[in-house]
Amino acid sequence: MNNGGRTSLVLGALAVIFTGIFAAFLADLPGRPAPRPLIPLVDKSFLSTATVRISYSDLVKAKEDLSDFDCYGCHQKSKPPVLTFDENQKLIVPKAHRDIVMGHGSHGRNNNCFNCHNENNLLVLQPRDGRDLKFSESTLLCGSCHGPTFRDWEAGVHGRTSGYWNRDLGAIDRKDCVNCHDPHSPKFPSRAPAPGPHSLHESTAAPAAH
Ligand code: HEC
Ligand code: HEC
Ligand code: HEC
Ligand code: HEC
Repeated sequence: MNNGGRTSLVLGALAVIFTGIFAAFLADLPGRPAPRPLIPLVDKSFLSTATVRISYSDLVKAKEDLSDFDCYGCHQKSKPPVLTFDENQKLIVPKAHRDIVMGHGSHGRNNNCFNCHNENNLLVLQPRDGRDLKFSESTLLCGSCHGPTFRDWEAGVHGRTSGYWNRDLGAIDRKDCVNCHDPHSPKFPSRAPAPGPHSLHESTAAPAAH
């Protein structure tokens, strides 16, 4: 075979090979990689910056319904409510207040309504030293019994502070105890931890938030 014949043979073979590869490509013979599963979005509840509870002050600011705090809409000014107890000296919460679940402390140690409310003026709270506090000042009431936690709170160690590090730039907003703790059952309920960062690898994909 002469040189010219060999060249056309090689070129012909190459043409066949490349046509084959092209056809295989068009027909998608090697297949495509499986599409990656979608990365689940983080549950919106983890992104909320709202506090766990809406306090009296929040209701006032939002101009919401304050009828729960209108004590003298139902009680008589001249007649302080009488506390009722069962045979084990456990306080009975009357039907009219059934939305209140009393459980202050591990053994209900602080369930007596008048440890906090003033029986002679239901519209105010009464700490240990006997002065009257407005409902919006309830943090001082908590502080009258929980001194160490209150000092932590004042220092910004307990609770939540938002706003500016540099106080010259703007005010800070320190959330009240009752923004997180129900005054009647203050134990903080546990909550699901937020998911960790997503590694983008399928095998270690974070489980969908729930
Ligand atoms: C919707 C009506 C209503 C409102 C509003 C209301 N109360 Fe009462 N409350 C009652 C009734 C009814 C009772 C049971 C009879 C009684 O003791 O007078 C009661 C009982 C109580 C008792 C006695 C609890 C016990 O163990 O027997 C306390 C303390 C009390 N209320 C405080 C308050 C305070 C403080 C407010 C306002 C922040 C308030 N109530 C608002 C209807 C109401
Ligand atoms: C540890 C202190 C404490 C004790 C004990 C306590 N309260 Fe309260 N209570 C508060 C505070 C503080 C608020 C205001 C909370 C807020 O700003 O959201 C409040 C709010 C209320 C309200 C209006 C809002 C609501 O939840 O309906 C009623 C009614 C009430 N208390 C009744 C009672 C009764 C009845 C008892 C006894 C069975 C009692 N409280 C015991 C501290 C206390
Ligand atoms: C009259 C005193 C008194 C006042 C006022 C008071 N507490 Fe308490 N608190 C107690 C006692 C007593 C305990 C129980 C300690 C124990 O069981 O070891 C307690 C327990 C607690 C606990 C732990 C609950 C648990 O089961 O782990 C929290 C949280 C708490 N209080 C928050 C508050 C908040 C918020 C306020 C204000 C709305 C408040 N307290 C007002 C006396 C008080
Ligand atoms: C931003 C929310 C938030 C605020 C505001 C807040 N707390 Fe707490 N507090 C918590 C949480 C969450 C826990 C539970 C920690 C745990 O279970 O390990 C807790 C625990 C506690 C305990 C249980 C004992 C302890 O120290 O672990 C007490 C008592 C208490 N808080 C009192 C207060 C008082 C009093 C105030 C106001 C001066 C306050 N808290 C304000 C979120 C808050």
